[in-house]
Amino acid sequence: MTRLLGIETSCDETSVAIVEDGYDVRCNLIATQYDLHAKYGGVVPELASRAHIETLDLLVHEALDQANCRPFEIDAIAVTHTPGLIGSLLIGVTAAKTLAWGWSKPLVGVNHIHAHATSASIDAGSAPWPAVALVVSGGHTSLFHVDAYDEIKLLGSTIDDAAGEAFDKVASILSLGFPGGPVVDKRAQNGDPDSIRFPRIMLKRGSLDFSFSGLKTAVLYHVHGPGKTSGGLDKLTPQNLDDLCAAFSAAVADVLVDKTMLAVDQTGVGTVVVGGGVAANSMLRRRLTARCDERGVSLLLTPFQYCTDNAAMIAALGCHLFRLGHRDDLGLTARANLAG
Ligand code: KG4
Ligand code: ZN
Repeated sequence: MTRLLGIETSCDETSVAIVEDGYDVRCNLIATQYDLHAKYGGVVPELASRAHIETLDLLVHEALDQANCRPFEIDAIAVTHTPGLIGSLLIGVTAAKTLAWGWSKPLVGVNHIHAHATSASIDAGSAPWPAVALVVSGGHTSLFHVDAYDEIKLLGSTIDDAAGEAFDKVASILSLGFPGGPVVDKRAQNGDPDSIRFPRIMLKRGSLDFSFSGLKTAVLYHVHGPGKTSGGLDKLTPQNLDDLCAAFSAAVADVLVDKTMLAVDQTGVGTVVVGGGVAANSMLRRRLTARCDERGVSLLLTPFQYCTDNAAMIAALGCHLFRLGHRDDLGLTARANLAG
């Protein structure tokens, strides 16, 4: 048996998990910082780093308690080291290196996006590869071809806003609060997705890249009038808001579903996996399920508790990488960008 302790601090969630054999989550503790950032309408990096410092140590102790295990029973430490907010990543990486050194345990650096791409396999109990992985989060929207836990090839990604960012910006246009995804999702359930026809931006033929900034602008002008950026919100009834949320969610979901199916055609694989915060979206889950059923493609949706940022997915992927022989030393560094 292989037991890993995982640490995630790439953005505004502090999380520690203990996972056995890559599939069995013994505990997954998540301290969110919603209240801290809500009044600013977005994540304030410096506040996020400070909150990670205050919370992380307590979470490590609590995780060991809950999983009823002691440090010597941990086989390795996994930590998100890229991509993310540099100050936040540094807290997690420094803590993981300290634990690895203090407990004499191996260290495994984990790519946060790859963890989202493989999170649908937690609870599945076996590796679903080869598959097309759709990662839809607040910072990233990407399609990958996954052949193994350590063979993850990027097929396409957003050229501007991420899908979650579009949800957050639309929620801000509609004054619905932050983070926007869950509240837009909830309102959309009472709205008519066909009430407004927002653009589905597909870019050039065959492209697996995404663009969501035009859609966000279309919502802005729909609310305030063409070319205007204020003044229209008061005229909307609650039903108008629900319809807008539904029509916007449908436009995002349609693009994500079409591109995912295009990736299936281009790669010839028979399985789709979906992860990241926006993978919790109910319209996306419904539309993807319907299209995969129609096409005879098998679909693995990440369980809700592992969609938004969490350390279970870091410990799980860390466990698979560890078994495949991956190790990092104390020279492991945090990197804000994948390319950096
Ligand atoms: O994966 P995640 O926790 O963080 C990043 O790695 O970025 O994703 C957070 C994003 C936010 O933009 C949030 O609005 C969005 O996921 N989100 C949703 C839903 N729940 C969270 N978007 C649409 N529908 C949801 N139900
Ligand atoms: Zn994430």
